[in-house]
Amino acid sequence: MKIAVASDHGGYKLKGYVTEHLLNRGIDVIDLGTDSEESVDYPVYGVSCAQAVAFGKADLGIVICGTGIGISIAANKVRGIRCGLCTSVEMAHLTKQHNNANMIALGGRTTEKDLALKIVDEWLDTRFEGGRHQRRVDMLDRL
Ligand code: RB5
Repeated sequence: MKIAVASDHGGYKLKGYVTEHLLNRGIDVIDLGTDSEESVDYPVYGVSCAQAVAFGKADLGIVICGTGIGISIAANKVRGIRCGLCTSVEMAHLTKQHNNANMIALGGRTTEKDLALKIVDEWLDTRFEGGRHQRRVDMLDRL
């Protein structure tokens, strides 16, 4: 399993914690930056992570900006990407179970580390339910 991670400056610190957590779980990580807290533009990082997933270089992706909002909007512009912005464990559960999210977005300034890592685990450990949700996911992918 390979997961691509990317953030802007607002998500840089949390990206480090998430990366360490993924490595501890035995998951390969592709870190697409940013590499410091110097101000950068989140669309660049959202799209680059989404393209890594869409082009098959990574199985899944995690993007982080200050709120998770801007970077999730950017990721969702890439065809084939279903990026769920998660602010709770329940949202992480449901975005896998119902949306089969192949990416999640987190807020580095809005979600504290322990909760963020629980969100990551819940998303990874939940299975897509399929059935009626498959039809809806197929509809999303055709948009
Ligand atoms: C950057 O200051 C901030 O706007 C960005 O990290 C993010 O929160 C955008 O949605």
